[in-house]
Amino acid sequence: MKVIITENYEEMSKKAAELIIDVVKKNPKAVLGFATGSSPIGLYQNLIKDHKENGTSYQQVLTVNLDEYVGLNAEHDQSYAYFMRTNLFDYIDVDKKNTNLPNGVAPDAKAECDRYNALLAENQQDVQILGLGSNGHIGFNEPNTPFDSVTHLVELTENTIKDNSRLFKSIDEVPRTALSMGIKNIMQAKSIVMVVSGKNKAEAVKGMVKGEITPALPASVLQLHPCVTIVCDKDAASLL
Ligand code: F6R
Repeated sequence: MKVIITENYEEMSKKAAELIIDVVKKNPKAVLGFATGSSPIGLYQNLIKDHKENGTSYQQVLTVNLDEYVGLNAEHDQSYAYFMRTNLFDYIDVDKKNTNLPNGVAPDAKAECDRYNALLAENQQDVQILGLGSNGHIGFNEPNTPFDSVTHLVELTENTIKDNSRLFKSIDEVPRTALSMGIKNIMQAKSIVMVVSGKNKAEAVKGMVKGEITPALPASVLQLHPCVTIVCDKDAASLL
């Protein structure tokens, strides 16, 4: 596990973007695993800037996102489908037909998870971008999710509902369930780039990097992956 500590969020975003751009330059048909949330927004802004200034093309990539809230359709402004369009896809030359997220309004959640697992089985991520939950979750794999889990329906913890309520009008509007890639789907990626920022993540970062490998802290599984880069700002790294 390689840990890069940066001065601030801006530098974190720039460094992480360089790693992703490098993957796309080497393989224009790369499979890119994307995450949502506050952590990768700056990274995505750097991808957009590079696309505009240097012409890095996403025309041939295929994208797979980690997760989606159950009950929010792609037009809902808090859905992860909407997030990806408005923070990245609308500003690069990706073919929208090649962008994939779990469908949060699929009538049969189990069938939707099976569909997504089959897609991932055919398309190993060249790089998977991750954020980190303050409780150590990756994707929406909450503490004590088995390491061999694949895409599944998740009951979000109170901790995650509270963390994510900042983006909704009230905490009651935060969906209680989500569809998420499992830990096994994340670990299948050839490489992983995680972005983490802020003091509220410092405890989780310490456990992930230096603690016991345990489902109680899902991100600790990354110690077992051969090619992980954690790019974190100095607040997130403050307990290392
Ligand atoms: C998002 C995701 C989550 C977030 C995590 C951190 O697709 O899978 O694991 O990465 O909750 O969220 P932020 O970056 O908002 O602190």
